[in-house]
Amino acid sequence: MSEKRIDEQSGTEVTGHEWDGIEELNTPMPRWWLWIFYASIVFAIIYAILMPALPGIDSYSKGVLGKSDRVEVVEELYKLTDQRAVYANKMLSADIETIEGDEDLLRYALAAGESAFGDNCATCHGTNGQGLPGYPNLNDDIWLWGGSYEDIRQTLNYGIRALHEDTRVSLMQAYGRDELLTREEISDLTEYVVSLSGREADASAIARVSTLYQEQCASCHGMDGKGDRLQGAPDLSDNEWLYGGDRATIVETLTNGRAGVMPHWKERLSPDMVNSLAYYVHSLGGGEKSDAPTQ
Ligand code: HEC
Ligand code: HEC
Repeated sequence: MSEKRIDEQSGTEVTGHEWDGIEELNTPMPRWWLWIFYASIVFAIIYAILMPALPGIDSYSKGVLGKSDRVEVVEELYKLTDQRAVYANKMLSADIETIEGDEDLLRYALAAGESAFGDNCATCHGTNGQGLPGYPNLNDDIWLWGGSYEDIRQTLNYGIRALHEDTRVSLMQAYGRDELLTREEISDLTEYVVSLSGREADASAIARVSTLYQEQCASCHGMDGKGDRLQGAPDLSDNEWLYGGDRATIVETLTNGRAGVMPHWKERLSPDMVNSLAYYVHSLGGGEKSDAPTQ
C-alpha cells in the first residue's frame, strides 16, 4: 500500500492512480448522502420482514404483517358492491316519495338511471332524451302513455307494441293503404287535423269531414283532439308532434298508419335498474305526480 498523500491544490487525499501526471482524488461521499443510503438499507430490511417482498419458486414471502394490496382492493370492491346492493334493494320497493326523501338513494337512482339510459335508451331517444321524429322527447311534459313514475315503469317493463304479452298496444291504422278512407277524405281530414292545433286550414274541407272525424278518429284522439293516454293516442291539439304536423306528414300518417315500437326491458334489465331508469326519466323534466301506490 502506498502512503496516503494529500493533493496540494485541492487538499484532498489521492488514490494513488495516475495517468500521464493526472491523479485521481479520493473525494468522500457527502455525509447527508451516506445517511440516506444507510437509512434506505435499514428501511429495505425492515420492509422485507414486515411486508410481502421476496419472490420464491411458486409463492412469495408474505411478511409479518400479512398485508396485500390485492386483498385490500378486493375487500374494497366487496364493500362497494354491498353498498350498491343495499340501494338496489331499496329501489325494488321504494315509491317516489321514499326515493326523494332519501338523499343517498336519490343520488344512486339518478346515477344508475343516467348510466343505464346512455347504454340502452340513447340510441333511440337521444343522449339527453330529446327524441327524434317517431321517438318521443322524454324531457317535456307531453306523454303518450303517461308520465307518472308508475306509468313510466309500466312502459319500461312491458314496452309499447313490443314482444311481451303485457305490452302496451294500440293502433293507428293505415287508412289509405287499407282503403278505409279515400284520398279526398284523407286530404280533408288533414285540414281538420291542422285546424285542431289552432292553425289556419281550409274551412270547406273541415266542414266536409267533421262528422267523419267524430266517427273515425274521436274514439282515440278525442272529440276536440286532446288524445287518450289509455290508447297512447297523441294529443292533436297541442301542436307538438310525434311524427310531424306538416300536411305531407299527416297525409303519410293517415295513409300508411303508425306503430312506433318501444322494446320491453323486463327480462333484459334487473327490476331495480328499471326503477332507477324510470326515476331518471321522471326527473328529466316532465315527471307527473301519481296517487297510485307502487307494487
Ligand atoms: C328501439 C328504439 C327504442 C329504444 C332502445 C328505447 N325506446 Fe323508448 N320508445 C321508443 C318509441 C318508438 C316510443 C314511442 C312508442 C309509441 O309510439 O307509442 C318510445 C316510448 C317511450 C316512452 C313513453 C313515452 C310517452 O310519451 O309515454 C318512455 C318513457 C320511453 N320510451 C323510455 C325509454 C327508456 C328509458 C329506454 C331505455 C331503457 C328506451 N325508451 C329505449 C323507442 C325506443
Ligand atoms: C284506435 C285508435 C286510433 C284511431 C281510431 C285513430 N288514431 Fe290516430 N293515432 C293513434 C295512435 C295510437 C297514434 C300514435 C301511433 C304511434 O305512437 O306510433 C296515432 C297517431 C296519429 C297522428 C300522428 C300524430 C303525431 O304527433 O305525429 C295523427 C295525425 C293521427 N293519429 C290522426 C288520426 C286521424 C285523423 C284519425 C281518424 C281517421 C285517427 N288518427 C284515428 C290512434 C288512433
